[in-house]
Amino acid sequence: MNINIRNEQEKDYRRVEEVARDAFWNLYFPGCHEHFVVHKMRNSKDFIKEISFVIEVDGNIEGAIFYTHSKIIDNDTEYKMISFGPVFISPKYHRKGLGRKLITHSINQAKKMGYKAILTLGYPYHYEPYGFLGGKKYNISMADGNFYKGLLVLPLYKGALDNIKGYVVFSDVLDAKDEEVDEFDKNFPYKEKKFQESQLEFKKASVMLDE
Ligand SMILES: CC(C)(COP(=O)(O)OP(=O)(O)OC[C@H]1O[C@@H](n2cnc3c(N)ncnc32)[C@H](O)[C@@H]1OP(=O)(O)O)[C@@H](O)C(=O)NCCC(=O)NCCS
Repeated sequence: MNINIRNEQEKDYRRVEEVARDAFWNLYFPGCHEHFVVHKMRNSKDFIKEISFVIEVDGNIEGAIFYTHSKIIDNDTEYKMISFGPVFISPKYHRKGLGRKLITHSINQAKKMGYKAILTLGYPYHYEPYGFLGGKKYNISMADGNFYKGLLVLPLYKGALDNIKGYVVFSDVLDAKDEEVDEFDKNFPYKEKKFQESQLEFKKASVMLDE
């Protein structure tokens, strides 16, 4: 396999959205939002182009990672953070180390650019291999004040989060309404929305508190 990681170009947009749709379809709920989120993210003020990458296998795009600005809020103080998501790999290439290459590459670039920390939401087993820990360890909660297991934090240098606590606010470009996604999805070949076991795991995981 000849692997190449690079920034996304305009000519890649459609392919990247197709791969996102394949990777997320019916995974967390019937259908998915990620192809639409990626589509509108590129024009968002929160998008961080320099550390968002596609990964090619033998010249074909088989995955991507997208970053946006986020923040931690502590009373009247805001701290600038960054977040990734969506991150995805074509289903046929799962567990072959591509996600690891892509995530590691982007973390290294984010370090070089001097960002303090990455905050993301996801399954701990996806991100612990890179050093992410639950927000509770750093006194960082979600906006409702709860420490969820799915809020994962990675400081990008020693002491980056010293004296920082608060709650995280992600970019609103990550939010999508079902109606707008359904409209956008009409640009793609029909796929059936349906129930999958993985949706139950997600439902349980998304309310798990770090106690
Ligand atoms: C999550 C995702 C990007 C990982 O990419 P990948 O190429 O399959 O992952 P890798 O092969 O590089 O795995 C790296 C490590 O992550 C962990 N990991 C990845 N997928 C895992 C899974 N399904 N279960 C448990 N651990 C997993 C493991 O530690 C793995 O190392 P190992 O295979 O040596 O045990 C990919 O599975 C994907 O696109 N999933 C669907 C979309 C999604 O859920 N994205 C994340 C939420 S935004």
